[in-house]
Amino acid sequence: MGVVRSAVDRSVIRRGRFAEETSALLRVYTESISYDWRLYRHDIQGSLAHAKALVAAGILTEEERLLIEKGLLEIQAEIDRKEFTFDASLEDIHMNIEVALIRRIGSVGAKLHTARSRNDQVALDLRLYLREAITRLRKQCANLQCSLVGFACRHSSVCIPGYTHLQRAQPVLLAHHLLAYTEMLARDRSRLNDCMERMDELPLGSGAISGSTIVLDRKLLARELGFSRITQNSMDAVSDRDFACEFLSALAILGMHLSRLSEDIVLWVSEEFGFLELSDRHTTGSSLMPQKKNPDVAELTRGKTGRLYGNLFSLLTTLKGLPMTYNRDIQEDKEAVFDSLDTASMALPIFEEMLDAARVREDRAAAAAGDPILLATDLADYLVLKGLPFRQAHEVVGRIVTMAFQLSVPLSQIPLQQLRVVSPLFGADVEAVFNLQQAVARRLAIGAPAPANVEERLTYWKNALRESP
Ligand code: ARG
Repeated sequence: MGVVRSAVDRSVIRRGRFAEETSALLRVYTESISYDWRLYRHDIQGSLAHAKALVAAGILTEEERLLIEKGLLEIQAEIDRKEFTFDASLEDIHMNIEVALIRRIGSVGAKLHTARSRNDQVALDLRLYLREAITRLRKQCANLQCSLVGFACRHSSVCIPGYTHLQRAQPVLLAHHLLAYTEMLARDRSRLNDCMERMDELPLGSGAISGSTIVLDRKLLARELGFSRITQNSMDAVSDRDFACEFLSALAILGMHLSRLSEDIVLWVSEEFGFLELSDRHTTGSSLMPQKKNPDVAELTRGKTGRLYGNLFSLLTTLKGLPMTYNRDIQEDKEAVFDSLDTASMALPIFEEMLDAARVREDRAAAAAGDPILLATDLADYLVLKGLPFRQAHEVVGRIVTMAFQLSVPLSQIPLQQLRVVSPLFGADVEAVFNLQQAVARRLAIGAPAPANVEERLTYWKNALRESP
């Protein structure tokens, strides 16, 4: 399709009221077609349903509706084939499609906008768009969960130190550590689901602000467009963007989770930790230092989380000062939504790919997990089981740890006589405390990393992800 050039087309909503054409600068400043063209399928979907409601209201005949339907589907096909030329002077996707329809089918097309405003139209389009986007994102989250579970299964017996304050704390299974992210992603999916559930309300039929004297059958519209509920206040419906804020918020939290995983990966691939090696396909080199293999995917994801937060704050700030009802400020919602969507939907699959190709350096993991200092708490538990109150046991072991540092020997190598100087409760059986496998296996409470628990959780996730991806 050619460029829409005629002044008549451009002034389709200005005829009558305005004597002068808009300034060229204003046109550039106010247009949204450069990004809201992405809503075209949903805009057309909404118009197809609207035309049916106009038939029911006696505004269109069935023949006219069929003509509109044919015209809209042709326009959709042209946009699909990238043959449609969008015109910035028509501001947005809604006007671009409407004008194209009028050019194509004449005055019947000019009836379509009866009892509708771009205000309720865009509120509808964005909901329809996000409904699909959320379905895709949830699937991508599930795919990443599958990768984490697969990775955990491939290394189900590997122990690593668990950290608090980035100080070695207690031993854990690597699988347990990775399954923590599987839990986080499950919450992300559930948050996206909640957002979709609350968003499941039809705004169309609210008009510009207060509906229309031509009364549309909104139940028909809701059925046609697959909404379970109908908005109950037209003023709220045209200016509500809570659903967009919730979407951005869910993605900001998802970003925070991916950023934490990124941070773990960055640490683990460093020589200082050395637990993980990323594939050549998922690392970058340095232009100067030949030895480098950088985890840029993880770093960029950590960095891009800033954009996800920024988009949320941008929209919340845009909305906070708006009087009822629609104000043009609201147009700013879309770039934030699209940017967060694009950012998250690129990060999720690349993480999936990167994890599938990564390799655990088991020797390095074993060496780090073998540090007996990780079992200091277990040593205190040993004394507790001999009858010492925990606070005293904590102090006794604290003294023994200091002793180990002073003598420069591992915690497990302090001779029994010296242990007994600090507490007579120590016996020959203390040696068993320092068996790493047993120490992990004893952590059997629900949610703790005993291999038996982790196996169970892996099986749970494998089934859950198979059933509802
Ligand atoms: N492009 C506008 C937006 O995205 C559509 C609604 C315009 N409404 C209006 N009255 N100018 O919000």
